[in-house]
Amino acid sequence: MPAKKTTDTQIDTTTKNCAESEEFKSIGASTTAFPTPVWLIATYDKTGRPDAMVAAWAGIANSTPPCVFVGIRPGRYTYENILENREFTVCIPSEEYAKEADYLGIESGRETEKFEAAGLTAVRAGKINAPYIAEFPMYLACKLKDRMNLGSHIVVIGEILDVWAQEKVLDEHGKVDVSKLKPLAFAPDSQMYHVLGDAVGKAFSIGKEFKK
Ligand SMILES: Cc1cc2nc3c(=O)[nH]c(=O)nc-3n(C[C@H](O)[C@H](O)[C@H](O)COP(=O)(O)O)c2cc1C
Repeated sequence: MPAKKTTDTQIDTTTKNCAESEEFKSIGASTTAFPTPVWLIATYDKTGRPDAMVAAWAGIANSTPPCVFVGIRPGRYTYENILENREFTVCIPSEEYAKEADYLGIESGRETEKFEAAGLTAVRAGKINAPYIAEFPMYLACKLKDRMNLGSHIVVIGEILDVWAQEKVLDEHGKVDVSKLKPLAFAPDSQMYHVLGDAVGKAFSIGKEFKK
């Protein structure tokens, strides 16, 4: 039987205790949530060498001003670089760069020239002291705004100063077309990369049919 809708002040008496549920199984407190992005956080180190790392614990944090959040372990070279320059880019790869993106998530720029090894091109982003990855179709230019220590990771908040995208992923209105971008998503449980693409409906619109 479907659960009855509740408000904040109304207790739903039809909902069963979760321990009684036959459909749901607890899989424990973990980072299993979908989708998480495959973002590359690109920085310069203190000598001006470009570095980039994969971040999946990341997303959009605020609309005005536009901000991203990224959970970064303090030992990452990227974290050191962000503190040094206070600027970074979020580069979004398309499906065809899954291998290169993965590589940037398994070696550290502290010891390796990762761009050279992966055959990727670092280009200085406009207005900020950070590189972007020329082969990836879009990037966000960000300035460090705040930090919060949550335990294993430091949540870095970056204000988005500008967004750049290759023409080939834009639609006729100049908006990013996800079916052209084909961005990757990471599934923390299976540790697999997936591709996003199919549109299923217009947001803030398809749900209207339930309005009374
Ligand atoms: C799929 C994937 C997701 C990752 N997500 C994160 C993340 O959200 N935060 C983090 O600190 N490290 C994450 N990592 C690990 C870093 O990308 C990795 O340690 C990288 O080598 C750090 O590079 P750096 O030392 O040059 O900064 C992820 C790696 C992969 C492969």
